[in-house]
Amino acid sequence: MSGGKARSSPASGQGGATADRSAAQHESTSELAAGPGKSIWQYAPAPESRDVVSIQPEYGLFVAGTFAPAADGRTFATVNPATEEPLAQVAAAGPADVDAAVTAARTAYEQVWKSMPGSERAKYLYRIARQLQERAREFAVLESLDNGKPIKESRDVDIPLAAAHFFYYAGWADKLAYAGFGPDPGPLGVAGQVIPWNFPLLMAAWKLAPALAAGNTCVLKPAETTPLTALLLAEVCQQAGLPPGVVNVLTGAGDTGAALVSHPGVNKVAFTGSTEVGKEIARAVAGTDKKLTLELGGKAANIVFDDAPVEQAVEGIVNGIFFNQGHVCCAGSRLLVQESVADIVVERLQRRLATLRLGDPLDKNTDIGAINSRQQLDKITELTKVGEAEGAQRWSPPCQLPEKGYWFPPTVFTGVSQSHRIAREEIFGPVLSVLTFRTPDEAVAKANNTPYGLSAGIWTDKGSRILWLAQKLRAGVVWANTYNRFDPASPFGGYQESGYGREGGRHGLAAYLNV
Ligand code: NAI
Ligand code: MG
Repeated sequence: MSGGKARSSPASGQGGATADRSAAQHESTSELAAGPGKSIWQYAPAPESRDVVSIQPEYGLFVAGTFAPAADGRTFATVNPATEEPLAQVAAAGPADVDAAVTAARTAYEQVWKSMPGSERAKYLYRIARQLQERAREFAVLESLDNGKPIKESRDVDIPLAAAHFFYYAGWADKLAYAGFGPDPGPLGVAGQVIPWNFPLLMAAWKLAPALAAGNTCVLKPAETTPLTALLLAEVCQQAGLPPGVVNVLTGAGDTGAALVSHPGVNKVAFTGSTEVGKEIARAVAGTDKKLTLELGGKAANIVFDDAPVEQAVEGIVNGIFFNQGHVCCAGSRLLVQESVADIVVERLQRRLATLRLGDPLDKNTDIGAINSRQQLDKITELTKVGEAEGAQRWSPPCQLPEKGYWFPPTVFTGVSQSHRIAREEIFGPVLSVLTFRTPDEAVAKANNTPYGLSAGIWTDKGSRILWLAQKLRAGVVWANTYNRFDPASPFGGYQESGYGREGGRHGLAAYLNV
């Protein structure tokens, strides 16, 4: 079946400034697409200006409405993963800071927030939402700098969706009595929220907006590799006049997160991240009366039937696994394709992948940005080696990787069997494992053969098949003839090792109400 020529090319001697690198890369990309010596036209570099953001050399913790250094003065660096350039030193919160933040959140809860009418709380949420829209460019550039994701994604997905979440939950704040949870559902108290690095601002919005709408106060712990947009959001909270202590932002690593979730003053814990840490948190919270929601990993099946429109399905496959470098918990990382069309689907997919543009995240034409951290790059590299060792065939398009920074080419494994680690474990990178099936029943069995259960995709012309299959898939979200669609009104969450509880929509309110 698929042409299994492995042509993954690691960085070749291409030095110089970023601009030189990206120009050279543009040239090579279009030449490669057209064939040697036959380049049709070139993409000119189209970098978004980074002048729109002013990054401070140092950032403090946001506690009780003001920024201050950590009690013990510890800091850590956050870097731009596309260049390895340090962006800023950020305070690392210790136990004393966690205690101060939880105390600030408790005071704000008791004295201001829980008794404020929902219609008044809504005004703050609307203000935050509007500020996010007004400062959208600044947020998008900062997100791409700190995270490595392409600007077209931060600009068109992350930031607009973050604003949409605040707008959506602002609308609920004065309607909680009509949300179907009884006549007078109350808040839980102080929420301790720990988020990952793949969608830094968006995950902050997913956590804060429903919590605040429901009348809780928050202590948010962003991931250590991507703290900057959460800190800018803290500044927006100040600008919006949010009462001090209603939102607190504690930067730091896993130890800060662990101290937060086990603090006795926290009533509700919400976590998005790895299944491993999710289990640790579940153990830390067990036996307390803290309410817990966990949004963990996934290994989603993206299922393509022989009657699916091939080009559309290919776009859906690309979006499913190469969006955000595959750093997506609901990524369609297992392609299940019906055997009779497997060759053509893989062939068209490879052709499409050869046109993707990898490089400078701030370039508006970039499709694939940087891997978020050295650690994540090592994990992806390691698992793809395992894939080869276990006998799957590896393929990448010709692709020049920038010399500095953390990069991984789009990669497709064919000949994957269900027992391979690359078919079972979350790689969390731009790596697709292709498996085949013959009958719809076999598709169901293979799709459900996973310890996870977060999402799935179905590509078929038949509505009846979509409905039949969606009922049988053990996944929290099932997309039909589309993939990675998000809407604040729609609940999101998983089964099994993907966690429990739902975020988004009316369901997302329940996690923050005493119901
Ligand atoms: P992680 O789960 O360690 O990090 C997520 C967040 O949890 C970060 O803010 C981190 O500081 C915090 N944290 C770490 N240890 C903690 C603890 N003991 N208690 C409380 N908070 C803690 O994820 P990591 O190490 O960055 O990535 C490892 C793998 O996890 C990835 O390769 C990927 O497979 C998966 N992952 C899944 C995500 C998802 O959205 N489902 C997001 C991030 C990672
Ligand atoms: Mg960073």
